[in-house]
Amino acid sequence: MSSSRQIAVTINGTVYEREVEARKLLIHFIRDDVDLTGSHIGCDTGNCGACSVIVDGTLVKSCMMLAVQADGSSIETVEGLANGDELPVLQQAFSDHHALQCGYCTPGMLMSATALLRMNPKPSEDEIKKGLQGNICRCTGYWNIFEAVSAAAERMSE
Ligand code: FES
Ligand code: FES
Repeated sequence: MSSSRQIAVTINGTVYEREVEARKLLIHFIRDDVDLTGSHIGCDTGNCGACSVIVDGTLVKSCMMLAVQADGSSIETVEGLANGDELPVLQQAFSDHHALQCGYCTPGMLMSATALLRMNPKPSEDEIKKGLQGNICRCTGYWNIFEAVSAAAERMSE
């Protein structure tokens, strides 16, 4: 019996149909089968948040989900945040506030912050910290990331 299955997922508005092994993680499907390499793999154990994507409106660590579980879903990855060459408010705020150094955690941070700001457009300091608590950054000390999200929230509510 084959352990592969045909799935169809929409990623950033494009439908991808692929045959995948039942054991394949969603992050590997996104990176290796669909070639969207903006989402990173930091731990493969659900701890670092580098692989965070939004699946049907919910923030998900894509190393914690099988690709077959995403069959029929609509997924947003970091590549879907950009609007052509123009940086969206949140990404511009990360740039303005020096909220990244090596950038490895940044795609996951952006997806977590995006999910947070959609759910709660005016988050308090504590709510921003809680919204990002599933994401680890080894470089920045977190403060600039926190400031960037806070500034983006302010700009988006103007
Ligand atoms: S790679 Fe998924 S949480 Fe670290
Ligand atoms: S910027 Fe390097 S891990 Fe966050």
